[in-house]
Amino acid sequence: MNPLRVALVGCGIISEAHVRAYANHADRARITVCCDIDLEKAQERAEQAGGASVVTEYDEVISDPDVDAVEICTPHHLHKDAVIAAARAGKQVLCQKPLAKTLEDCDAMIAAAEEAGVTLYYGETNHTLPAALEAKRAIEAGRIGQIIGTQATYAHWQGGKYLSTAWRYDPNVTGGGQLLDGGIHYIDLMLNVAGPIEAVTCFATRFRPELGGEDTAVVNARYRGGHLGALFSSQAAGIWFPGASFIAFGTEGVLSMGGPQGALTLHRPDLPDNREALIEKGSWGDSFTVMIGHYLDTVQHGKPNPSPGSVGRENLKVVLAAYESARQGREVRLEEVEPQASPDRKA
Ligand SMILES: NC(=O)c1ccc[n+]([C@@H]2O[C@H](COP(=O)([O-])OP(=O)(O)OC[C@H]3O[C@@H](n4cnc5c(N)ncnc54)[C@H](O)[C@@H]3O)[C@@H](O)[C@H]2O)c1
Repeated sequence: MNPLRVALVGCGIISEAHVRAYANHADRARITVCCDIDLEKAQERAEQAGGASVVTEYDEVISDPDVDAVEICTPHHLHKDAVIAAARAGKQVLCQKPLAKTLEDCDAMIAAAEEAGVTLYYGETNHTLPAALEAKRAIEAGRIGQIIGTQATYAHWQGGKYLSTAWRYDPNVTGGGQLLDGGIHYIDLMLNVAGPIEAVTCFATRFRPELGGEDTAVVNARYRGGHLGALFSSQAAGIWFPGASFIAFGTEGVLSMGGPQGALTLHRPDLPDNREALIEKGSWGDSFTVMIGHYLDTVQHGKPNPSPGSVGRENLKVVLAAYESARQGREVRLEEVEPQASPDRKA
């Protein structure tokens, strides 16, 4: 099979992780084009990618017959148009999180990919994290009994280069702040590991005036299965906190995921030392390589897409419901933020 020829679109901070991940799949795919409105950034990534060609106009990417797939790494609010144009040009698409600003935009992107018969892969690294998949399996196998709830923490400070990309935290540009940009990674874990969410409440605030939107939020969730969840998400803590964690509590045991290595441990009273390491060394570090592996399995080998656009839509729906809850000071059911529900919501 010929290697997939990938165009990297948006050569900013995260595109470097994509370059490294593709280098680990060099036998299956290669980045052949780097596109950015900033020529220097495109040139720098192209060099890292081993000599890809450089363009500053996205139209050149989608009209290039030698490009099989595009990797959308532009700011959130630019994802929609880029994904739709690529799908209509018959390119396979991987789009970084969050999928888009609104559910209507997500629907248009998903429909465009379906109509064109191309893959839309939602690029959330947590979605295929081995520890997440193993935690899900352990819960389904009953290893913690009946699940009663989840607790997640994703709190840190990413000043420096992240601050220089201020669009990220400006709700007027992207539709949100830290929850949309960062907390959404842990919302994916909540949904993926513990099941669909029915309703949320949220408090959101800001401690760093230099950030435009909310930088700290607490989201409480009621899962459809009746269990409860909590997420503390912040971009205002003093340091990159290495202890990001996700814990699932059950009537017979507890699963804890986290720490610098992203390990997964099962805690039960009937285990030696009350614990069993399900995954000793997690893969926060190579989660991009893992993600790209799943993506290539989908587009090259026809395997079921483990992270389709609908996953990104569901993640965004929880974020939008949380923002609505913070605004209105009440519990918001997810169905209330569905597009057809918006007239009532505004009333
Ligand atoms: N998975 C993760 O852990 C993770 C981490 C960071 C960012 N992201 C996501 O990746 C995306 C990009 O984030 P980033 O941190 O790299 O941002 P960034 O601002 O560093 O990079 C964005 C790049 O897009 C370029 N760009 C803007 N408009 C363009 C256009 N029309 N055509 C081509 N290039 C254009 C900019 O010049 C910039 O270089 C965001 O959606 C973000 O949420 C994911």
